[in-house]
Amino acid sequence: MKRLNLAQQMARRMPAGALGTLEKVEKAACQRGWRIYLAGGAVRDLLLRRPVLDIDLVVEGDAVQLAVETAKTLKAGRLTIHPPFLTASIRAPGLNMDFATARTESYTCPGALPSVRPAKLDDDLRRRDFSINAMAVSLNSADFGTLIDYCGGQADLKAGLIRVLHEESFRDDATRIWRAVRYEQRLGFAIERQTLTWLRHDLDKLQTVSGERIRHELECVFAEPYPEKVFRRATGLGIPKKLHPRLTMPRDLARWYARVRRVSTDKKTRGALYLALLTYNTSAAAAKQVCASLGLDKKATRIIDATHSLKSRLDALDDHPLQPSAIYQILNGYAEEAILANLTTARSGMVRRNIRFYLDELRYVKTELAGGDLLAIGMKKGPQIKAALEYLLAARLDGEVRTRRDEEKWLKESGFGN
Ligand code: CTP
Repeated sequence: MKRLNLAQQMARRMPAGALGTLEKVEKAACQRGWRIYLAGGAVRDLLLRRPVLDIDLVVEGDAVQLAVETAKTLKAGRLTIHPPFLTASIRAPGLNMDFATARTESYTCPGALPSVRPAKLDDDLRRRDFSINAMAVSLNSADFGTLIDYCGGQADLKAGLIRVLHEESFRDDATRIWRAVRYEQRLGFAIERQTLTWLRHDLDKLQTVSGERIRHELECVFAEPYPEKVFRRATGLGIPKKLHPRLTMPRDLARWYARVRRVSTDKKTRGALYLALLTYNTSAAAAKQVCASLGLDKKATRIIDATHSLKSRLDALDDHPLQPSAIYQILNGYAEEAILANLTTARSGMVRRNIRFYLDELRYVKTELAGGDLLAIGMKKGPQIKAALEYLLAARLDGEVRTRRDEEKWLKESGFGN
């Protein structure tokens, strides 16, 4: 049977210049008698006629050496090497390439990272997560573009199925549980029946995976166009509860996430907001435990803490028409992400208006006089200066002073500096 050739798809869907670079990589590999292949998600996306952004190469040979030489010929980009995994990557403008030596993996115990040994392409594909991610395309000049599909990936792509390659797959690597749901929801596929049975059976293995690896999976979910779909499905399968028994998906999550996408385009802020909202309906204590179990850094933990702390004060923004200085006092000092998270969840129009007023205007208001000016008019160093500046700022926020002279007058009349 004639095998499918994807050379044309590659020319169409890969970043400009990628094919030229791949040709050079192939030449260098060929000179050493090594064979190279495009593998994994890139092949899946070519078959789905989606753009291919990341180029994953498998080398039957020394991937690290090949990457080092490629980086030299490219004369651009950043080379990173991971010797224990026999992998390297090059990040160049418009081109991300990962090089991996074809390998088999063995898992010493569930949750641990695998130990790897060089092997043939066949073994490398059969150790992978799902059939749709276990295909390769030859980049070797003799059969450039030929699809290699030992595990029925093409058929599963056609049928819209996420299928693991063997019964141990989720036990070997429980992060595949999150991955299965993520691909299912991204592609509008279904997790194949037997795979789903194994997934349910091995849910507990998620607890053997390090917080850092789970965090990486969550970050991948947050990078999806609709993370809420992944969480809805994951919740149906009882996956988030393996992170924390009291982690339940808020009923409004889809609405909140849609709002997040409207207010924030920056990937980092979006991720922080998604996470803060995921834990919004848990207690502050449970949210803290989730942060700790994911090994979140200080900044991310502070955002989640602040989100909960502000949530408990939100009613104060709803009471009655508030003075701008009162709004400022409630919100000042909270991380912007925590404020945005609460803006997203607030049901009251008044609360939302007050938060927007703060974000758009109040937080930028400054007094004209600074500490040095107060010393110059005879005030003593110490807490009095801070109190006077706060007092002045409140007067500015509420429109009671507008100019530097107003500020000086206001201070005198209020008894500061006497
Ligand atoms: N892989 C695996 N098991 C994992 C993670 C990855 O078998 N737990 C394999 C899959 O073959 C996958 C490839 O490594 O295709 C690359 O992994 P990754 O970059 O995470 O995924 P992509 O398939 O490139 O998908 P995405 O579009 O999400 O980047």
